[in-house]
Amino acid sequence: MKKELKNTEDGIEKIFKNAKDFLPLLGTDHIEFYVGNAKQAAHYYKTAFGFQSLAYAGLETGLKDRVSYVLKQDKIRIVLTTALNSKSEIGEHVKKHGDGVKVIALWVDDAKKSYEETIKRGAVSYLKPTVESDEFGKVVKSGIYTYGETVHLFIERKNYDGHFLPGFVKWDSDYNPKSVGLKYIDHMVGNVGWGEMNTWVKWYEDVMGFVNFLSFDDKQIHTDYSALMSKVMSNGNGRIKFPLNEPAKGKKRSQIEEYLDFYESPGVQHIAIATDDIVKTVKELKERGVEFLSAPPKEYYKDIPNRLGSHMDIMNEDIDELEKLAILVDADEDGYLLQIFTKTVEDRPTLFFEIIQRMGAKGFGAGNFKALFESIEREQQNRGTL
Ligand code: FE2
Repeated sequence: MKKELKNTEDGIEKIFKNAKDFLPLLGTDHIEFYVGNAKQAAHYYKTAFGFQSLAYAGLETGLKDRVSYVLKQDKIRIVLTTALNSKSEIGEHVKKHGDGVKVIALWVDDAKKSYEETIKRGAVSYLKPTVESDEFGKVVKSGIYTYGETVHLFIERKNYDGHFLPGFVKWDSDYNPKSVGLKYIDHMVGNVGWGEMNTWVKWYEDVMGFVNFLSFDDKQIHTDYSALMSKVMSNGNGRIKFPLNEPAKGKKRSQIEEYLDFYESPGVQHIAIATDDIVKTVKELKERGVEFLSAPPKEYYKDIPNRLGSHMDIMNEDIDELEKLAILVDADEDGYLLQIFTKTVEDRPTLFFEIIQRMGAKGFGAGNFKALFESIEREQQNRGTL
């Protein structure tokens, strides 16, 4: 009999009994990128990744110093923000880091309490609890710094039914490319500096009440040339997962080190987005010009039945097709997962995306790390940064 496995958003709910409940998180609210040209970035994410126009704020809505475009696809909201003058901290951020993620906003029931509880435990304040309102109701926002210049905002929107946040107007566009089937944020990975991993693991435990539920050391994550360490932090209901990477010494330069050199600080390395049908999503993304890392060698695909073991019985995908699209496969005791990684999406080799389809598996593709890092090293080789 075929076992039913679903791609589930809260599959690891209730596992994390050690997690503390002083900071209940309902999910990811949105991700805000600071970019050099938000108008063009919005066009890229609509055209290439299938996001839809949702909301807008800029000169026309009374802002003087910035403009923001909000895009949506299923449960994912991204905000693209650009400075309108040379004095803005947004412009300074872009000057230092290039385009990148500034804000990982978390959806909470009580933004004031979230702020107080995290500040009490040692968080550095970014934004004191602030109430914003318009004709659709009110939103409470607060925020704290995490690694590098990255920020967690807490967004309380239970008394709000507008399009996005107060201050934004609905963005009606005549240009509406279709969705590619991206559903929700599965996890977001941060790169931290040399020797900083344990500091940030402890920070997520102490300040945010997260638990460290998976760890990989440089003996597990390495190729012939480079190495890194990775620890996965999760909140209590498993909805928010933040793996953290630290570079490790190898014969050549680790991809994490390359990131830190080009981003000029710790920051968000990749955003993993879930789909229910990775084959369809990846075909669509490729047609729209999204570039992915190159495929692992042929032997990788020949070895899949071995690696999947009994999960082969429940696998619906055709291995030849996965090979053609360069989609990676991994398994753990609970099921399998399919994943693929884009090339970096800006000129600095910093941020990239992962597309993931979970068929029961709760891991992060550890079995693929070697194949993935060898693909990245081929890119580094081309850039002269290996
Ligand atoms: Fe990932």
